Amino acid sequence: MRLTAILILLMAWCCAGYRILVVFPLAGGRSHSILGEGVVRHLLAAGHDVTYITGIPSKLSAPRLRQIDVSANSWIFKPEDLCDIDKILTHGREIFFDYTIARQQLKLNNYTATHKDVQKLMLDPKEEFDLVVIEWLFNEFLVGLSSVFNCPFIWLSSLEPHGLVLSLIDEWTDPSYVPAVHSKAVPPFTFAQRISELWAVFTQKYVRWQLISEEQVLFDRVFGPAVAMRGRQLPLLEDMKYHASLILGNSHVAVGHPTKLPPSYVPIAGYHIQDKPLPEDLQKIMDNAKNGVIYFSMGSMIQSKRMSESLKQGLLAMLGSLRQTVIWKLEETPENVPKNVHIVSFAPQQSILAHQNCVLFITHGGLLSTNEALHFAVPILGVPAFADQFQNVNRAVQKGIASQVSLSYDLPRELKVAIEEMIGNPKYREKVKELSFIYHDRRAPGSELVHWAEHVVRTRGAPHLRSAALLVPWYQKMYLDLLALVFVLVLSSVFVIRRLLSKNIDVNKKNR
Ligand SMILES: *[C@@H]1O[C@H](CO)[C@@H](O)[C@H](O)[C@H]1NC(C)=O
Repeated sequence: MRLTAILILLMAWCCAGYRILVVFPLAGGRSHSILGEGVVRHLLAAGHDVTYITGIPSKLSAPRLRQIDVSANSWIFKPEDLCDIDKILTHGREIFFDYTIARQQLKLNNYTATHKDVQKLMLDPKEEFDLVVIEWLFNEFLVGLSSVFNCPFIWLSSLEPHGLVLSLIDEWTDPSYVPAVHSKAVPPFTFAQRISELWAVFTQKYVRWQLISEEQVLFDRVFGPAVAMRGRQLPLLEDMKYHASLILGNSHVAVGHPTKLPPSYVPIAGYHIQDKPLPEDLQKIMDNAKNGVIYFSMGSMIQSKRMSESLKQGLLAMLGSLRQTVIWKLEETPENVPKNVHIVSFAPQQSILAHQNCVLFITHGGLLSTNEALHFAVPILGVPAFADQFQNVNRAVQKGIASQVSLSYDLPRELKVAIEEMIGNPKYREKVKELSFIYHDRRAPGSELVHWAEHVVRTRGAPHLRSAALLVPWYQKMYLDLLALVFVLVLSSVFVIRRLLSKNIDVNKKNR
């Protein structure tokens, strides 16, 4: 009897899960799929059914997980072409938000939505979802999925909060103290920086504006039929994109900017981090490193193997002259590897940083890497290369947990100076411990993620979080209408007074 009761309860519990569609279409760039997989993992663990549209299919397998592989679109964005170290060194090529990137992301989203398996999902009337979670990547095209399934949606933003995303749920950030996405500046700004940040607002809005009409046509073509088939009418993209219930942000104030955020922005940096044991060989290497371990990785987008041979040899010779053990993530093993240097083609980064002997992390400064460094309290030596990395590293430097070295052919010499300074000076370790404490002193980001996703479903899209700022046009926010009114009043009073005065003068003239 009791057993059946328990079984019934268990069934009720297990089947109370929601059906959630998680969309991370980027195929190039491991870091975005790490974030996507983190979302999927937490939602599965909370008992939900997850359909995962992904550019890099996950190795996770669970009865409640269904993956839709859109890796066929990987040709659209090839990070290794954009993030080639030698190209950056010789041409100063940097990736920043501009028309090219905006176009590319629209293209990626279009090809994702028109992928045959995604179309099959959209055109199957039996498919239903309670929630869509979409990675926001410089384009909002995929909100069409929320229109198709007539359910609320959440953006996942991989970056620090910035105007482009916050304007979707509230309003643009104040350029006088919040840096634009991909800006290198860290507040407080100088006069010149403030002007350049203001300029960025206009250029970024202009870039978005240029695509609006083309996006709308494509939106109707791609999502119109599936919505019509379900007996509804497709809203305008320009309306839909402002209807997110929430933004889950891969940010935390301990490494980020303390700026004002609407209640519909929930920072959950670090939710992707997992406790995993080190592989045996690395465990042994790290346990035996009497002088500590320096971990060197330029991330997954930059392929260090595309560095010139001379730069690589210069780095190896420099690393060989250190007292510390070095683990260098490099996709191939070069010649002349010194005894204290261990080359790994794949690095379990989180587990390496988690080891107590890890004393320094040489990184490109991607947000996942800087977050992980903070999570495990390891000081950062940043060598930023593109996108938000400059800002992440500059911020970490300002907070006292990092040094920065610029990517140049003089890298080996400059790195050595910085490494010696950072190892010799305890202030970096002390500061990173302090900030790491602040970062950990909160509810676990994974359970925040689950709680807020469920909250959105339970409250049918959380309309109570919706900011009134979305309803107020920009000129009203700046009180330009009042200014216009005052201007008209002053102008007409001047006019009236002048008329009266001139009449008086005329009367006076007559009386004389
Ligand atoms: C959108 O996708 C369709 C089909 O995959 C393709 O034929 C079309 O050229 C794409 N348009 C753009 C602007 O990317």
